[in-house]
Amino acid sequence: MKLTARFYVLLSLAALTASCSQAPKSEGPVYLDDSQPIEARVEDALSRMTLEEKVKIIHAQSKFSSAGVPRLGIPELWTTDGPHGIRPEVLWDEWEQAGWTNDSCVAFPALTCLAATWNEDMSVLYGKSIGEEARFREKDILLGPGVNIYRTPLNGRNFEYMGEDPYLASRMVVPYVQEVQKNGVAVCVKHYALNNQEAKRHEYDAILSDRALYEIYLPAFKAAVQDGGAWSIMGAYNFYKGQHACHNEYLLNDILKGEWGFDGVVISDWGGTHDTDQAITNGLDLEFGTWTDGLTMGATNGYDAYYLADPYLKKLREGSASEDILNDKVRRVLRLMFRTAMNNDKPSGSLCSPEHYDAARKIAGEGIVLLKNDNDVLPVDLASVKKIAVIGENAIKMMTVGGGSSSLKAQHECIPLEGIMAAVGDKAEVVYERGYVGDVSGNYNGVATGQDLSESRSEEQLIADAVAAAKNADVVLFFGGLNKASHQDCEDSDRYHLELPYAQDKVIEALAEANPNLAVVIISGNAVAMPWVDKVNAIVEGWYSGSQMGHAIADVLFGKVNPSGKLPFTFPVKLEDNGAHALNAYDPQDLTVEYKEDIYVGYRWADKQQIKPLFAFGHGLSYTEFTYGDAKVSKNSVKAGADVSVSVDVTNTGKVAGKEVVQLYIGDEQSRLERPVKELKGFSKIALEPGETKTVTFSIDPEKLMYFDDEKHEWVLEDGKFTAYVGSASDDIRTQVSFEVR
Ligand code: BGC
Repeated sequence: MKLTARFYVLLSLAALTASCSQAPKSEGPVYLDDSQPIEARVEDALSRMTLEEKVKIIHAQSKFSSAGVPRLGIPELWTTDGPHGIRPEVLWDEWEQAGWTNDSCVAFPALTCLAATWNEDMSVLYGKSIGEEARFREKDILLGPGVNIYRTPLNGRNFEYMGEDPYLASRMVVPYVQEVQKNGVAVCVKHYALNNQEAKRHEYDAILSDRALYEIYLPAFKAAVQDGGAWSIMGAYNFYKGQHACHNEYLLNDILKGEWGFDGVVISDWGGTHDTDQAITNGLDLEFGTWTDGLTMGATNGYDAYYLADPYLKKLREGSASEDILNDKVRRVLRLMFRTAMNNDKPSGSLCSPEHYDAARKIAGEGIVLLKNDNDVLPVDLASVKKIAVIGENAIKMMTVGGGSSSLKAQHECIPLEGIMAAVGDKAEVVYERGYVGDVSGNYNGVATGQDLSESRSEEQLIADAVAAAKNADVVLFFGGLNKASHQDCEDSDRYHLELPYAQDKVIEALAEANPNLAVVIISGNAVAMPWVDKVNAIVEGWYSGSQMGHAIADVLFGKVNPSGKLPFTFPVKLEDNGAHALNAYDPQDLTVEYKEDIYVGYRWADKQQIKPLFAFGHGLSYTEFTYGDAKVSKNSVKAGADVSVSVDVTNTGKVAGKEVVQLYIGDEQSRLERPVKELKGFSKIALEPGETKTVTFSIDPEKLMYFDDEKHEWVLEDGKFTAYVGSASDDIRTQVSFEVR
């Protein structure tokens, strides 16, 4: 059982006040007086701790908790996954379920979906809601959000991250961090850094230029730390420069704690610590999950043998490790405790509230992306259809269970078929056909969906039955894509290929032939190949959108919500259209992964090579049309260091209200180092009624014009001409304007 901070404090205060019950508050221990500044409380608590107690609080005592100091009334810390909802309770020392009946949660949409909203207000709502759930479940640290950059579409964990662009991920992560932490719950931003694939995740060494590191892979972490004020960060499993990221001199000491001034706690990923000496000196503060692979294996009561437990204590006692370094770790952990477990002003939170369900639906609705919509197949007009055929396993498969550590025990999950039936009511007939069989399992770590997805029909029969249903319907809604099984969108393994699994291409082709009124809804956290793209009129990316997935998708399909999501990563036509794959710089067997594409990740590669993607970064259609005026720059020529702004009028020229994400990209026309054709440096989501015009103004501060110079190890702003490209997607620039920096 977890004793709350308040309970511990009460206990210890009761003991103290027994001897000095009339003592004024200021004469009591500073560390217990929450009117005192946190740093004073940290120092006071530290000064009272024994060596053993100090070591005790810097490693785990159970799968998800670390010890406090009961003698001093300092409570335990409780962590939880993260990042899409609050994970159900597991046994003390096992991954298996604890069997609680009050640990269900609201599953919020996957972070890819949140990123696809391109709306910071959605990130505020997300952070607030999940923070409240974490607080109610008495968690001190939420293991998320994840901001590893989308380098390859094969990465099994892309669904837990915020896409391929450092600027988008930076802007979207900050409100999540701030809002969670308002609940007295620390975020733990993960996985720092360069965990861009799951294949060989414990073994590979990422090799890349400092420029790619600073320009592409670090900005979202930096924003979470410096702008969001994150209280903890999780080291990644992989190596960087020959050291594991969880105890990595460069990433942790030099960059995170040195350059960025991080004052929080570095927590190891579960089983990411490998060496006592490095754990001591290279920046790790709190060790979790040693001797597990983070998922299945477990060592019983091995906690005293952790690298930062008895082996560390031995070195301290012998004098071969300095207490100064230990004190730094302990200070950080105490600081986090005063911000969370020992913060007596924190709210009490709430779980599975109607507001949280509404938030989940709203965020999902804003993140769903309309990729293609020829012949106005969507939205489906319920006044003119009599029969709707819903086809595909993903229309009925619960997706909140599975995928690794982000797996949840959702109190309720509305599957797409259910959402569609609710939206249609008695206005039309809805028939369902399976179409294909994918993953029939529905169990993760003892949480079972309870669905029976067994199916005995042959592939041919399934297709024939689906085609028959499609022929007989006015409109066909196919739900396919990936799922949370191994080698799909799932932790600890990567996908084998870009193609859709389970022969879905065949099903889609057959359906397209059977009925032109076909909309294909992809449920995934990754790009997939679409060889049938020209044969299908409407395509939607629906993501893993959590508890309210079915309702949110139905909202979009039937026009209750006008889609406004935009892709947070590129959908390449084929794998080789992605930089890492074009250069053979990804091999699931390799133990050294050379990031040969350097800074040319995602659309930066497509632009450079002039490759037309299947669907570009930033792409997403609406049921209305937006017209852009000419971009205007505040000054044609500015002194280096001064701000400049670019404005554009955007008008809704269609018939329904809608939201547009106006995107600003900057291109540096003259530069000493080669630079991408253009890079995202601003976006604004605006709501427009039909006929309405709004002016969007982007302020371009000098930072947005800089590149990272490896040789100088600094950000550089050069004179010369820059172009501001404003548009609706990275491949749909509507207007551009240039300016000069002197
Ligand atoms: C994952 C982390 C997760 C941890 C605890 C690890 O396997 O990589 O993201 O937070 O397990 O479940």
